[in-house]
Amino acid sequence: MISYTQFNCTLSIFALLLAGCAPMPVNDHSAGLTTFVVLGEQGQAVARVLTDAAQCPRIRIDGVDVAMDVRAAAGTVAQRTTRSAPADSKPSGFPLLTCEKILPAQTTSAIVAGHALPLPKTEARRIVVIGDTGCRLKKSDQAYQPCNDAAHYPFARIAAAAARWQPDLVIHVGDYHYRENACPDDNAGCAGSSWGYGWDAWRDDFFKPAAPLLQAAPWVLVRGNHESCSRAGQGWWRMLDPRPLQAGRDCNDPANDDLGDFSDPYAVPLGGDAQVIVLDTSNTTGSPIAQDDVRSGKYRAMYRQADQLSQQASYNFGANHQPILGFYAYEDAKGIVNVLPGNQGIQSVFGALNPLIMPARIDALLSGHTHLWQQVSFASAHPTQFIAGFSGTMEDLVPLPDVLPSGATPAPGAIVASVSAWTGGFGYMTMERSGARQWQVRVWDTAGREVNRCQVEGSKSACEKARIQ
Ligand SMILES: [Fe+2]
Repeated sequence: MISYTQFNCTLSIFALLLAGCAPMPVNDHSAGLTTFVVLGEQGQAVARVLTDAAQCPRIRIDGVDVAMDVRAAAGTVAQRTTRSAPADSKPSGFPLLTCEKILPAQTTSAIVAGHALPLPKTEARRIVVIGDTGCRLKKSDQAYQPCNDAAHYPFARIAAAAARWQPDLVIHVGDYHYRENACPDDNAGCAGSSWGYGWDAWRDDFFKPAAPLLQAAPWVLVRGNHESCSRAGQGWWRMLDPRPLQAGRDCNDPANDDLGDFSDPYAVPLGGDAQVIVLDTSNTTGSPIAQDDVRSGKYRAMYRQADQLSQQASYNFGANHQPILGFYAYEDAKGIVNVLPGNQGIQSVFGALNPLIMPARIDALLSGHTHLWQQVSFASAHPTQFIAGFSGTMEDLVPLPDVLPSGATPAPGAIVASVSAWTGGFGYMTMERSGARQWQVRVWDTAGREVNRCQVEGSKSACEKARIQ
């Protein structure tokens, strides 16, 4: 990613005398170049470039100039059925090329247009975790987040603060895109916001605010339900998913959604015998999945593959979007706060294969989806769960009760040992490795101030504060 503050000093001396050394707004996403690095299967690093030029730029890898491949051509995709009414949907315009190049392992430098890309470290010891970062514009819920007000939509501040922490790796736990419908004309908080599933909304919801953090480190990208085919799946496949873009998986034709909505899990090594296993649960439901539902077979296969991948390392994070072992507080019409369990769709399929829900070697779960920060640790043999869905999207407002109802648990048989929660605060989470199976987790607000600290020891964790006010 190219810095806004970079100066265009490539002019000739003569031209400089005439024109001066002018700022070059190369991160102006309407007319520029966006570069980033995503990590995929077995940690394979892929350089990505989004450009409105007619051709992909060349990339210099360890001193050798090579061509980049076209991942997706510029174009406008015809309007398809979406989660919104046809009148609130539109064609998806992507007036830019997506270019990519697989970076060989051990690459020490990769440069595009004079700008160095962030490369994976041998060991990722400093990891930023963020999630649910877009600005919510949703007509059916009459939810219009003030996208124009950084106090109410602080993803740019969070990305900048997280970049200053100098991570080795960033994990986004899903839901990048929230600008689904038009902001009403009389709503000053979001007036003029881009909307729909094309580039302009992706630019404003993700690539522009995320710029400093995309420049800071390579990313592991988890797919959220907002990136399912009937929502922002087109942009997900075109620009973010680390795997090859295959015909029929691009979410452009609803007839192929069963191809585009599911992906095999993969593992990204973190070095030091640890890894993160990435699960695409974007198309799950919140209720149990029937055996004849396509998701049942897909998620059974996912469980088995994740189990197999987990044999590769001594420490395993599982990263998926919907919390499988977290709590969600919901206030009903009578004002009574109900404490709801983890995702019932995944639990229904995984739980039929293993009463403990997750493969035994998965130590910790990283998720988002609920718009808060949360930690749960268990006395039973379940992995600890962290939720980091608090990085920009309009927050959930019902806090977990200080004392959980008797017997409250995210899943049958899971015995809760400790819970820590922050409801109503925006921020980001970091994880620093402190031992073979130990991590220090810290929680930060939008200004980069620490608000909580937890220790992870294997599959257990404990935090200093149970509730953050
Ligand atoms: Fe979500």
